[in-house]
Amino acid sequence: MNQPQGKRAVLAITTALFSASTLAGVYPDFGYQPPASQYSGPLFELSQSYPTQAPQGALPDFFKKLPAKPDNNFETWRAYMEEVKHYCLEGNVEVDWNVQKNKLRQWYHMPWQHYGPLGREGIHGLTKEAQIPVKQLAQTQIASGQTYAVGIYNDIGAYTIGEVWKDPNNPDPGFTSQPKSFANGTVVCKALFADIDRTTVPFLVNPVLWQGYITETFTSANRKIKDVALIQMDIAVRDTRMSDTGWIFGTFQYNGAKTGKPGWDNLVPVGIMWGNDPKETGNDFTNPTPTETRINPALQQTAINANTKELPPTHLGWNGRLNGPVDNPNSSCLSCHATGESPQVAIMNPTFQPKDKIPSPGSAEWMKWFQNIPAGHPFTPGTKSTDYSLQLSGGLVNYFEWKCDMSGIYADGKNACAKVQNLKLKMLKTGDDNSQPQQKVMRDPSLQQLLE
Ligand code: HEC
Repeated sequence: MNQPQGKRAVLAITTALFSASTLAGVYPDFGYQPPASQYSGPLFELSQSYPTQAPQGALPDFFKKLPAKPDNNFETWRAYMEEVKHYCLEGNVEVDWNVQKNKLRQWYHMPWQHYGPLGREGIHGLTKEAQIPVKQLAQTQIASGQTYAVGIYNDIGAYTIGEVWKDPNNPDPGFTSQPKSFANGTVVCKALFADIDRTTVPFLVNPVLWQGYITETFTSANRKIKDVALIQMDIAVRDTRMSDTGWIFGTFQYNGAKTGKPGWDNLVPVGIMWGNDPKETGNDFTNPTPTETRINPALQQTAINANTKELPPTHLGWNGRLNGPVDNPNSSCLSCHATGESPQVAIMNPTFQPKDKIPSPGSAEWMKWFQNIPAGHPFTPGTKSTDYSLQLSGGLVNYFEWKCDMSGIYADGKNACAKVQNLKLKMLKTGDDNSQPQQKVMRDPSLQQLLE
C-alpha cells in the first residue's frame, strides 16, 4: 500500500521526503507523489531560488493603472484588474504554471506547504483547501465538492520569503512584521481548482482541467489522480498607496460561457477590495446559496462587478464584502488574511469556534475580524505579523509541528510539544496569551475535524 492512510503514515512519508529532497533544494517540493503505475508525467518542482538582494527594477506596469480615486464602482477598477490578471498569467499559462520555465519573469512558491494531510500533491503542487458545500456555486449543485490550489509570488515578494526562510532551521517572521513588511510591489496570484460534478455547475462548461493527486473526496484520506477544473483566481498586491491596509485583494471567477471554449481568458472579475469597511455592521447582504449576486452599495472599500452577463450569480463575503465562489460567505479576503501571524494564535473567522461562542454578526466582538489592520501589524498583540500571508503563517505552523513531531511520539500518543504546553508559544512575547493553543491555518473549519 503506497498511499498514506492515516496521520502517522502521512508524517512518516513527508518526513522521508524532507530528507530525500534536501539534495535537490532546501525545501521539499511536495508531500504526495502519485505512484509511477498511475502517472508518468512531470512532477511539481518548488520554485525556491529566492532573490538574495531586494529587486531594484521597476514596479509591475499595472501599478500605473491604480485609479486616481478608488471607489466602489467596479468600472473604475476594470482596467487595473485586467492588467493584474495579465501579469499573473503572462508566460505562465503556456508552461502550465511550471513557473520556473516562464520566459518573461520569475515566479516563486512558498516553502513548507508540503507537510501534513493537506500538503502539496506532486503533479501541480496543489494544496487541499476547503469543502464546497451544496448549492454554494449554483442552485443545481446538489452534491458537495472540494477545492485545491497553488499560489505564486513575484520576485519582490520572493525576496521577503527568502529573508524569512534564509536559515531553514530558524525561520524569522520578523521580516514581515513592523517596521518591516512585504515590500511595495509584491504580487501574489493563486489559482483554485474544483473537484465537483461539473454537470451541476453551469459556469464550469468548457473547463480548464488539471490533473491532481488528490483525496478521493473531501473527507477521504485516500489519494488518486483526478481532473480538477479551474474555478477562481485570487490576487494580492502590496501597494503602499492604499493607506488603510497597504494591500489590494481581488478575485476572478471562471465562466466557460464567456468565450465558449476552454481557456484562462474565461476568468471574469468578481471584484476588488482594499479595506474591510470597519464601520459597516449590517448583515442584510450575506448570501451563502446565491441565485443572484447581491451588491451592497454601503460598502466603500469593496467594488463588485455588476455586469451580470459576464459574472454568474455568486455569493461574495460577509454582507457583500469581497470573497470568491469557493470562499467562506461569512468572511472576506482581507478579513481572513489579516489574521496571518506567528505563532498563529488568532482564528481566521469568528464562526470558526464552538457555536455557543460565535459572536452575533455585526457585534463589537465580530467586528474584530473586519478592522483595517495596516501591513505588518499582527492581529494578536505580542505575535509577529506575517503581513497578510496565510501561506507564510501556515508554513511556519507546519514547520514547528514537524519539529515537534521529529522529537518523537510517546507511548501515550502525544508528541513532545503536546507534553510541553508552552513550547509552541515560545515565540509569543507577552505572557498572558499562554492559554491559547496555536491554530491551524486553514480556510475551512471542517478541515479541523478531518485532522482530529
Ligand atoms: C476563510 C479564510 C480565507 C478567505 C476568506 C480567503 N482566503 Fe486566501 N488564503 C487562506 C489561507 C488559509 C491561505 C493559505 C493556504 C493556501 O494557499 O490556500 C490563503 C492563501 C491565499 C493566497 C496566497 C498568498 C498567501 O500567502 O496568503 C492569496 C493570494 C489569497 N489567499 C487571496 C485571497 C483572496 C483574493 C481572497 C478573497 C477573494 C481570499 N484569499 C479569501 C484563507 C482565506
